[in-house]
Amino acid sequence: MSVDTQREFLHTAIRAAQAAARIHQHYVGRDLGIATKSNEIDLVTHVDKESEARIREVLLSAYPDHVVLGEEGGQDGDAPYRWVVDPLDGTLNYAHGFPFYCVSIGLEVHGQLEVGVVLDSFHDNLFTATRGGGAFLNGAPISVTTETDLRKSMLATGFAYNLGTASENVEIFGRMMGRCRALRRPGAAALDLAYVACGRLDGFWELKLNPWDVAAGVLLVTEAGGRVTGGEGRPYRLGEGVLVATNGPLHDTLLSALELPASPIH
Ligand code: IPD
Ligand code: CA
Ligand code: CA
Repeated sequence: MSVDTQREFLHTAIRAAQAAARIHQHYVGRDLGIATKSNEIDLVTHVDKESEARIREVLLSAYPDHVVLGEEGGQDGDAPYRWVVDPLDGTLNYAHGFPFYCVSIGLEVHGQLEVGVVLDSFHDNLFTATRGGGAFLNGAPISVTTETDLRKSMLATGFAYNLGTASENVEIFGRMMGRCRALRRPGAAALDLAYVACGRLDGFWELKLNPWDVAAGVLLVTEAGGRVTGGEGRPYRLGEGVLVATNGPLHDTLLSALELPASPIH
């Protein structure tokens, strides 16, 4: 793909993300129409749905022959160009007014990530990446940290809404507390990955993330010089049971410290 084509896709993704971010901002402090999905902590609001509808409109009116995989609307059909969309990552944070949430949009072409956009709609921080073109925060290049010592690292994780998977990670969380300088669970995986990309975190892991949580963030981390793998150290594939993202130098040490389950409960 030419750099010009990649840039055009990136600009469309940014337009779509900004349209969704305006919806996030509009509904702050208003009725969100909160409903539950798989269980009582798995929330959805009409902000999730409206944002996804708007993103689909922007992307599909620009590229009618592409497909969208969205958290709320799923995927219709198949095509070489697939947009992987989380219209509001960190819904629970958003619903409580906790300002750590974002829009996440990734473009896969023949299964390869080409473009990633994560927009923190509260702070208006725009993270972007294109394959081979680097990663940026509000237009300025970003890179991962150079930390090599796990004991001096700042890490993050997250907990799936599935209680079995979450409790499995609670055990890992407890063990890791003593192995690093600080461990956080901010609550929006796409933004956690963007934070690894820009050096605010040295590493992040989670069990059972969905493709829309991570498509953009995986590209951000790798383009910022970091490494993203599954639990066994092979390059991460969307939908895999375990995701580990680091600055690179810490990766193998973190992987072995995590002692991840071979196949986490879903
Ligand atoms: C969730 C967030 C959270 C992660 C969960 C995701 P949602 O996405 O990314 O940080 O721990 O696994 O499901 O539901 O807020 O879009
Ligand atoms: Ca999500
Ligand atoms: Ca979501």
